[in-house]
Amino acid sequence: QEINRDVWKQAASEAAAQLVEDDMLVGLGTGSTAAFFIQALARRMQQGLRIAGTISSSLASQELAQSLHIPITDFATHPSLDIYIDGADEIDSQLNLVKGGGGALLREKIVASASRRFVVIADQLKLVQRLGQSFALPIEAIPFAAPLVSRKLTNLGATVKLRGGSTTPFITDNHNVILDCTFADGILDPAALDEQLHHVVGIVETGLFLGMAQQALIGGPHGVQVLP
Ligand code: A5P
Repeated sequence: QEINRDVWKQAASEAAAQLVEDDMLVGLGTGSTAAFFIQALARRMQQGLRIAGTISSSLASQELAQSLHIPITDFATHPSLDIYIDGADEIDSQLNLVKGGGGALLREKIVASASRRFVVIADQLKLVQRLGQSFALPIEAIPFAAPLVSRKLTNLGATVKLRGGSTTPFITDNHNVILDCTFADGILDPAALDEQLHHVVGIVETGLFLGMAQQALIGGPHGVQVLP
């Protein structure tokens, strides 16, 4: 199944690369699916596509783009992008997402919010009935505040794990930590939870991407499904 998943991710990524038009400013996501997209975009450029520039949601994706000679820009030069293409960890029927498995959720949300259109690409195993069902919700927190944030999250009903563990914590591109939160029955009301989380001092951002993606390209055994 892992072999199939890569084929499905690749098919979704190829379909997404077809959405990019000449002179567009493109946001690049993070993770294995986004990496397939970056490679597909580079192939389209070899065939003559000209893009105006890209902004990546992680240093890793920026390095990959650079290595493939994809032009890089920044928000000082281009405050608004035409399209953002990125993967996700979970996708519900409303195209609400859980993201942050790769630890890039903060920059991903920044790039998504600066883009006119956000298209999510994934294999069909990412589709869920309810968010938080199969994947822990990543939350980016200031290291100094992490023990306090962790207690608050526990009080909100989450089982909390500091990513990487306390001796070798995972550090994000923004020098913060990630708290992975599991909810026993999944996330019943994502909007209410997200609202509560944004009031906790020390939380920088959550992995809930609600109402941000306009479209999803989902790879599966029968090709690429376009949602909605
Ligand atoms: C990165 O922080 C995440 O939001 C990714 O979008 C997510 O982990 C998807 O990764 P894969 O494409 O590797 O599954």
